Amino acid sequence: MLLAKSFFPGKVLLSGEHAVVYGFPALVSSIDLGIRVTVGPCSGFEVESDFNDEAGIIDKATKLLGGESNVKLRVESELPSGSGFGSSAALGAAVLDALGKYLGKPISNDKLYDLTLECEKLAHGNPSGVDPAAVVYGGLIYFRKGKVIERFKTNKRNTFFVINSGKPIESTKDMVAIVDKRMKSEPEYIGRVLSEIGQISFDLRKALENGEDLEDLINRNGELLEDLGVVGERAMLMSREMRSLGFGVKITGAGGLRGGSGMMLCCHHEIGKLEAFVKEKGWEYIKVNVG
Ligand code: PMV
Repeated sequence: MLLAKSFFPGKVLLSGEHAVVYGFPALVSSIDLGIRVTVGPCSGFEVESDFNDEAGIIDKATKLLGGESNVKLRVESELPSGSGFGSSAALGAAVLDALGKYLGKPISNDKLYDLTLECEKLAHGNPSGVDPAAVVYGGLIYFRKGKVIERFKTNKRNTFFVINSGKPIESTKDMVAIVDKRMKSEPEYIGRVLSEIGQISFDLRKALENGEDLEDLINRNGELLEDLGVVGERAMLMSREMRSLGFGVKITGAGGLRGGSGMMLCCHHEIGKLEAFVKEKGWEYIKVNVG
């Protein structure tokens, strides 16, 4: 039986979420967890999935390639949905790529980026494109809306911990709308906050390239996201405690207010100290290597 398989990674935003929607730069990295899709023959159309595809990405991706008949899709995900790991982009890319191969029409990376972004529009409304960039091209990326995608290297491996502050109730689309509303009512203040976040992405790239400590830049980005109003109470308390101990911490992804704020990116130049702290707290975490 002829099968086509694809695996695409999730992502973690190192800096620049929300600001990237307004044209400022962001830094994003793929991670080594992702989504695998297998396509094979069947009579009719069948999907077997362990992933909660709330946004209907599978349907959209399948329709984009005209492959809605005589195929069976099997989706296996290592990424939780809606937690800032780019699961909708990874799912879109994996379905498109596997279907393309199965239908005998393999898709180039640039085309895959455009099609994945189409699918993302379903989940986000007006996505910047940063998630598909990390998922499709992989590695460590300096990104600007309008398809500036620069892969860059670090001179050492950086380990981050991604800890869970709780699943957000709001979607990414809701959180982007919250910032948009504030941008309309307080354009000068919010404009300044977003512009400073953009500057941090620029500085963080330099710090990564030069192998410098990252705590101060990560913390400043975290505080600015709090000023934007996308970080809830629990994530703020966790961040405050971590910062008082010298760790770097920020939310990664769109954030959330009424429930949790999703995943938080944490760093420290002595990674063992951070690991011991997170373990002692009993917080759920994933270790991510970048660069
Ligand atoms: O998909 P998330 O939750 O990681 O958020 C993406 C980042 C935003 O800047 C909030 C939205 C976007 O389209 O860039």
